[in-house]
Amino acid sequence: MINFKKIIANKIAKATQIEEKELETYIETPKDKTNGDYSFPCFRLAKELKKAPPIIANEIKEKLGKEVEQEENIEKIDVAGGYLNFFINKEILAKEVLQEIENSEEYGKSEIGKGKNIIVEYSAPNIAKPFHIGHLRTTLIGNALYKTYKYLGYNTIGINHLGDYGTQFGKMIEGYKMWGSEYDLNDDPINKMMDIYVRINALCKEDEEVLERCRENFRLLEEGDKYCVELWNKFKDLSMIEFNKIYDILNVKFDSYNGEAFYSDKTANVIKTLEEKGKITESEGAKIVDLEYAGINTPCIIQKSNGSSIYATRDLAAIMYRAKTYDFDKCLYVVAYEQNLHFKQIFEVAKYLVDEKYANGLEHISFGMVSLPSGKMSTRLGNVVKIEDLINGTIEKAQEIVNEKNSELKNKEEVAKKVGIGAIIFNTLSTVNIKDQIFDWNTALNFQGETGPYIQYTYVRTKSVIEKAGGIIPKLEDIKMENLLDEYSLEILKLVYNFEDVLVQVTEKNEPSILAKYLIDLAKAYSSFYNENKIIVENKNIQDARVYLTFAVQKVLKQGASLLGIEMPEKM
Ligand code: ARG
Repeated sequence: MINFKKIIANKIAKATQIEEKELETYIETPKDKTNGDYSFPCFRLAKELKKAPPIIANEIKEKLGKEVEQEENIEKIDVAGGYLNFFINKEILAKEVLQEIENSEEYGKSEIGKGKNIIVEYSAPNIAKPFHIGHLRTTLIGNALYKTYKYLGYNTIGINHLGDYGTQFGKMIEGYKMWGSEYDLNDDPINKMMDIYVRINALCKEDEEVLERCRENFRLLEEGDKYCVELWNKFKDLSMIEFNKIYDILNVKFDSYNGEAFYSDKTANVIKTLEEKGKITESEGAKIVDLEYAGINTPCIIQKSNGSSIYATRDLAAIMYRAKTYDFDKCLYVVAYEQNLHFKQIFEVAKYLVDEKYANGLEHISFGMVSLPSGKMSTRLGNVVKIEDLINGTIEKAQEIVNEKNSELKNKEEVAKKVGIGAIIFNTLSTVNIKDQIFDWNTALNFQGETGPYIQYTYVRTKSVIEKAGGIIPKLEDIKMENLLDEYSLEILKLVYNFEDVLVQVTEKNEPSILAKYLIDLAKAYSSFYNENKIIVENKNIQDARVYLTFAVQKVLKQGASLLGIEMPEKM
């Protein structure tokens, strides 16, 4: 598609002798339409050119005069204060956008990431523990980033760094030895394992000898003792069955499930390398790396006094392994902000373990907490809110709503599932990563609010509009662009034009909420268009143009939502 920003930057570059690439980053899209489609703030040049911004603006406009007259893509330029405002040719915009919609199987898809390797690490629940709502955001933010990077042509690797290792497994083994026969782990395994864990933990607090036995079990596990390894495998397999149920329903996938255990035999190399470089100090029998020099007051512990490796060591081993195996350009960790310090520490230590390229590619995508509103919903779901319960509860609610709105509907269950899951995903992704958020059924399932169901509802509306118009998408060559120049159509055209740019922003900021917000804007723009412009009309030319625009909205809503992990019902 025509890149209007680039054209404008190119013109200004000719007039100012400043680099086009740099200028392009200055160009803004004004909120107020009277200020044009793109605007260039001259404030940034004031220092360099030693002139007041309005003077610069006028001078550039002067210089551009002839050039712009001959440039069909630009209609006119205005000066407003220190800004140069550009008005683009709307008919060309319309033609470009609709042509692209027509030509591309997958609108907005690109190759800009070609040749770059991106690791997205997400979800990473802990074995033998419930998959609770704390893991919802990592799972969904990670999944959305994974899909978006992939769509933009990056070679993307999704990793589930399972919490399948650590001293707690020594405890689990001990608990199972003591009380295993009391439990049938084939039925509701996670709750039962949790029960064993709570019991053994309580006992460890009372009885130092039991605790010692647990430590011994973990040591044996690290050594590869047959009995311990077998039990550990059993815990892991049972947990994975439960986790996979959730991944299936949310349609979340991974390329690798190499979790902490995978790195247990790779930690020795971490310690050896750090020792060789003289970075390790001993403190009360433990090995640590001091990080004061980097402004991090808590040292990174690499090995406990009893010789066991820890969480951080396994993460460091993972960085070395991933650098070697995937040659990554970026390695993103989608993990809650509670672990900010942990990632600061390991990223600093990583500088001694991998090449600069890799150390610079490490990035923690931190996010806030999820909670439920107090009251009925949270009491019904209990203290530790399991994702499974949240999902089932939401689908149940969605079913009630769908039934109320359209009791005749076929495949009601299927639709309710899509609406319920869509509500959860959208609610989770619509908040900026770093903010805490509340999950509330009433908000998330509100068909009129800024929600997943609202987007799905708008999509379904586009379907029924096209159906009413005869169910056939008009031919693009028959569309007269002059019929799409009203305010409401233009708003949609501009949004559709920006889709790829939005996806790029998602990857630049690692922030799926940008796409979530965009989809709301598009759905709202379509609602206004629908309310203000009759679509099914006498005049065939007008109808065809409006139907085609409806088709464009349909395509982008579906594609955008799918990058967030949301599926569209065809009716609701
Ligand atoms: N399993 C951890 C937890 O549930 C998250 C792991 C995050 N990833 C990492 N590479 N440390 O808290």
